[in-house]
Amino acid sequence: MKNITRDNLTDTVKSSFAQIDDERQRHLVNRLVHHLHAFATETGLSHDEWREGIAFLHRMAEISSPSRSEFTLLSDVLGLSSLVDLLAARPGATEGSVLGPFHTRGSPWVDNGSNLIRDNAGEPVLIQGRVTDIDGQPLANATIDFWQNADNGMYWQIDDSQPQDNLRCQIKVQADGCFELATIRPRPYLVPTDGPVGELLRVSRRDAWRPAHFHIIVEAPGHRSLITEVFDEADPWVDKDAVFGVRASLVRPFTPASDAATAQRMGLPANYLSVDLPIRLARED
Ligand code: BEZ
Ligand code: FE
Repeated sequence: MKNITRDNLTDTVKSSFAQIDDERQRHLVNRLVHHLHAFATETGLSHDEWREGIAFLHRMAEISSPSRSEFTLLSDVLGLSSLVDLLAARPGATEGSVLGPFHTRGSPWVDNGSNLIRDNAGEPVLIQGRVTDIDGQPLANATIDFWQNADNGMYWQIDDSQPQDNLRCQIKVQADGCFELATIRPRPYLVPTDGPVGELLRVSRRDAWRPAHFHIIVEAPGHRSLITEVFDEADPWVDKDAVFGVRASLVRPFTPASDAATAQRMGLPANYLSVDLPIRLARED
């Protein structure tokens, strides 16, 4: 019989996981036990508080569904998602930022140079960018997965007034790594607050706004995939992102432009906004 005490409990629990075959998994579980126990010890966690925490997790599970993960949202508002992005950063590469809940695989492939505006209201924007490695060499085989919200702030998945796949696409870049897309200016957006994460934001008197942004995933053979966002410099929420995704290098000016040939080529009106989007990918480790 082993007498479990405050002195030996943590080590005993850690040992109980020592048979996990995968070394990395074993390490993660060991450190999780370590930090969970340290949290409870440091805070002197009471039975009532422990029960409240478990009930919070239950409510998170109840509101989650295949199209809504309250757990991801909790990770986002606690800054954990952002920390994982920052830990994945590589010198010289474009910085990553949160994936968010509105990426769905299988966006329609469109030609580079497409116009996504169709029936959308909003300010027309031209995005022009170039995908290179960290030395500036073009990555001719790069692909871009792009998505954003509509002028009413909503993503098509949660807004019946929008057609399926509104304002999202995948494109292949040109041989010189360049790409361009015509779209609309994204809008600031409220993260869902009707669940337990909303309760947490309210008791903390925290705002639920995300500053206006485009999402992109950039992939190229032999290079680390990049999940990131591009923020509108003029958005007042850029300093107060509810999910801590803003990095100075990802905040871009939306500059007034009126190049007639470009407007004609891209199906844009005479006056539009222009956003420059250089992307640098690091080599695979
Ligand atoms: C978004 O980018 O849309 C988003 C990101 C994190 C949580 C909620 C929404
Ligand atoms: Fe988003």
